[in-house]
Parts: sequence; structure tokens; C-alpha cells
Amino acid sequence: MIGAGNWANRVHYPSLAEFRDVELKAVCDLDEEKLNSTCDKYGIELRFKDYKQMLKEVVDLDAVYVIMFPIPIGGYQHAEPLVDVVTYGLRKKKHVFLEKPPGISTEQTKKMAEAAAANNCRTMVGFNRRFIPIAKVAKKIVEERGMITHCAATYHKNQIKQPKVYGVLDHLTSDAIHAVDALRWMSGSEVKTIASYVRSFYSDAINSFNALVIFENGAIGHLNSCFTAGTRVHRFEMHGKGISAYVDLPQEVDQQKAFIVWDNRSLDKAEIIESSKIVGSQEFHKCYGYYQENRHFIDCIKEDEEPETNLADATKTMMLIDKIKESTVCRL
Ligand SMILES: NC(=O)c1ccc[n+]([C@@H]2O[C@H](COP(=O)([O-])OP(=O)(O)OC[C@H]3O[C@@H](n4cnc5c(N)ncnc54)[C@H](O)[C@@H]3O)[C@@H](O)[C@H]2O)c1
Repeated sequence: MIGAGNWANRVHYPSLAEFRDVELKAVCDLDEEKLNSTCDKYGIELRFKDYKQMLKEVVDLDAVYVIMFPIPIGGYQHAEPLVDVVTYGLRKKKHVFLEKPPGISTEQTKKMAEAAAANNCRTMVGFNRRFIPIAKVAKKIVEERGMITHCAATYHKNQIKQPKVYGVLDHLTSDAIHAVDALRWMSGSEVKTIASYVRSFYSDAINSFNALVIFENGAIGHLNSCFTAGTRVHRFEMHGKGISAYVDLPQEVDQQKAFIVWDNRSLDKAEIIESSKIVGSQEFHKCYGYYQENRHFIDCIKEDEEPETNLADATKTMMLIDKIKESTVCRL
């Protein structure tokens, strides 16, 4: 494990620690306090501050998790960027799981994907939205009648006071990337053409991301995201043949619900799927797809299969982000 910070501790360590076929063997973090508190909590003896030393000394690692921001932030400006850490791990023939965003650019994502292919390693980017149980169930129900013709991903936040993530990355690449990747997932197809409009409100940084995406299979995707909204709202819509699913994805587990309506049934008669009921747990990391994405990664390694959100696939999501940022809406 490279990284013992906030998100790793919130979702990845608890998931992996529960898998009986996984041993958390060694941890590396630049911050000694985080390193020790995480290792103490999970009973991990091998602790490192230098990931290269960890990968040299601990020889029997099958996979490496790299859970850090793509560029050094805070008091560790001298540290290496994610792309170098991941590429080093791949050259050491380790399968790698990394968080989003997979680097700060498409070029970096591509470079890591190429290193994975050259070293015959499996990779996975943490696009957990594809693994959220209520979203998966809703998608399956809509697809039982045929293809999803329209899909929408709404992702709003109130970050007026943080126009850029850690003062560096735009919110689309760093955060709303989840919504962009989710459109690709909901459509089940490759992007054919797009129109987009990106701008900034109340800041010099771009913070309003709007796109119409046409997929090869004919499905139409809508991205609706602004970071100057009242509060965090995250929602997927999937429409099929006379059937629709509205999936509300707040972080509060008891409010995570999918509403399914079909054949002119009114919304108050919708079939409601509650996250905690289908998961059988109130735990955030299980209801929001993190547990399931980790399981998918481990299973793929064991079965020598390519994880769904591997780096080559993530490169396509990064390319779509580039295209959205070109802001190509036509003037009449
Ligand atoms: N999928 C999601 O929904 C989701 C949500 C939140 C954050 N994230 C992602 O998770 C990643 C981590 O975010 P966070 O909030 O946990 O950050 P964090 O700063 O709390 O944790 C990162 C940790 O990595 C360590 N680190 C950095 N460079 C290192 C290096 N070279 N060697 C060893 N340790 C190093 C830091 O000391 C820190 O402890 C980010 O990429 C973020 O975008 C994903």
C-alpha cells in the first residue's frame, strides 16, 4: 500500500482487510504519523517511507495500491508524482490499483497504460461509481427492455472557495471525472461525437461543465456539473424503452436510492431500491462501490483478467475530458 491518507483509510484498507484471500503486507507513506496509525490499526509490521525501498525489500507482493494525489501536495513538494510511482511499480512487475484522477493529463494516463502493457501487469483506476450496487441494479432493470437510449450524470458541489483542487487541478479532471466515466459506463459504448460548453462563474478557474455526448451505439449522454452549486448533488439517470431509473447518490447511505418508473407509472408509484437494503449494510464503502471495486481488482488478478476500469480504458475517459474542455458548442 503506497499511501495511508484519508481516502485509503476510509474505503480501501477496510475493504481489503475484510477479504480473506488478501494479506496487507507492507505500507509506505511519507507521513510517519499516518503510516504508523494505519499500520497499527491493521496490524501491519512492514512500514516504509520510501516506496522504492519497499518494492525492493518486500519481494512477495502481488499488487500495489497507489492512493495519492497525482502531484505532490502539502509539505511533500519534493516527492515524486503519481505517474512515476505507478510506472516504477509496473516495471517491478506489480499489478497496480490507483485512485482517480489517473495522472494530471491524458499523456500521463497513456504512459502508465503503456507501461502496464509492456510489463504484462493488470491495472485498475478507482472509478467506483461503476460498482455502486443500486446503480448496477438500476442499469440492469432498464436494460432488460433494451438499450439505454439516454443517460445523464449530474455532479454538483459547492466549492466556490476552492476554485481548483489543492490549488492545482480543475474540478472536471479531479472530481467530476466520476460523472464523465459514468456516462461511458451507462451507455455501454464508445464516444462518437460530443458538444460541450465549459466556463467559469465567480472565479477564474473553470467550474461549469456541460456536455452532450453521442455514443457509437446511438445512446445520448448528458453531463451536468457545476462547482458553484448550493450543495453536493450526485445523480444518474438512465432511460430505456418506456422505462427510466433515477439514481440518487448522496454520501449519506440512508438517502442513496434508485427510483424506477415504467409505462407512465407516476413517480410516487416508483419502485424504490434502497442502497443499504440491497447491500445488507449501512457501511459507506460497501454502499458506494468501493468494496466491490476492490473485490473486482483482486478477482481479476487471481483470474488473470483485465479489470473493467484498467488504465487503457481510463485513458478514454481522460480523452473525453480533454474534448469536453475544448468547449465546442456552436454559435447560431
Ligand atoms: N474515488 C473517490 O471517490 C475518491 C474520493 C476522495 C479521494 N480520492 C482520491 O484518493 C487520492 C488520495 O486522496 P486523499 O484525500 O486520501 O489524500 P491524502 O493526502 O489524505 O492521502 C495521500 C497520502 O499519500 C501519501 N503520499 C503522497 N505521495 C507519496 C509518496 N510518493 N510515497 C508515499 N506516500 C505518499 C501522503 O503522505 C498522504 O498520506 C486522491 O487521488 C484523490 O483524488 C478518490
